[in-house]
Amino acid sequence: MLFRVCFVCLGNICRSPIAEVVMRRLLEDRGLDGQVQVSSAGTGDWHVGERADERTLAVLARHGYDGSGHRARQFVAEAFDDNDLVVVMDSNNLADVRRLAPSGDDTDVRLLREFDPMATDMDVPDPYYGGAQGFDEVLAMVEAACRGLVEHIEKDLDA
Ligand code: 4NP
Repeated sequence: MLFRVCFVCLGNICRSPIAEVVMRRLLEDRGLDGQVQVSSAGTGDWHVGERADERTLAVLARHGYDGSGHRARQFVAEAFDDNDLVVVMDSNNLADVRRLAPSGDDTDVRLLREFDPMATDMDVPDPYYGGAQGFDEVLAMVEAACRGLVEHIEKDLDA
């Protein structure tokens, strides 16, 4: 069985592309990359088709990841059919995604930081209007939470 997870933020050029790249690496490290399909999308359409933000590419490169293949996509209602789990970055994304859900849809929609047992604030803050430091903070939050997310998915695959 292929487990499909989609990360969602607002623009799909900062937070969710970071989560997608980090998650792929963690799954590869665990030998689960063949069993889990990872994608990302944004609730907004402003950046569709664009590469990730320069600051996203830079923070990923600083930490040994490659985000150069990313092209932004918009999260649309059909995505509920194509995914087992939708993981959003903040409570605004959660509300926007829930609004799009077809009635009766049972796709799991979760906040990323729910998977970080150390997290107190459940939002991954939007780094778009800030500086490079915000991107480093996002990467650290994403790495911590994705470790828990891999375990969550691993349990689901075993079930
Ligand atoms: P992201 O950041 O949701 O983490 O990709 C943003 C990117 C673009 C915009 C806002 C947030 N924007 O307003 O264009």
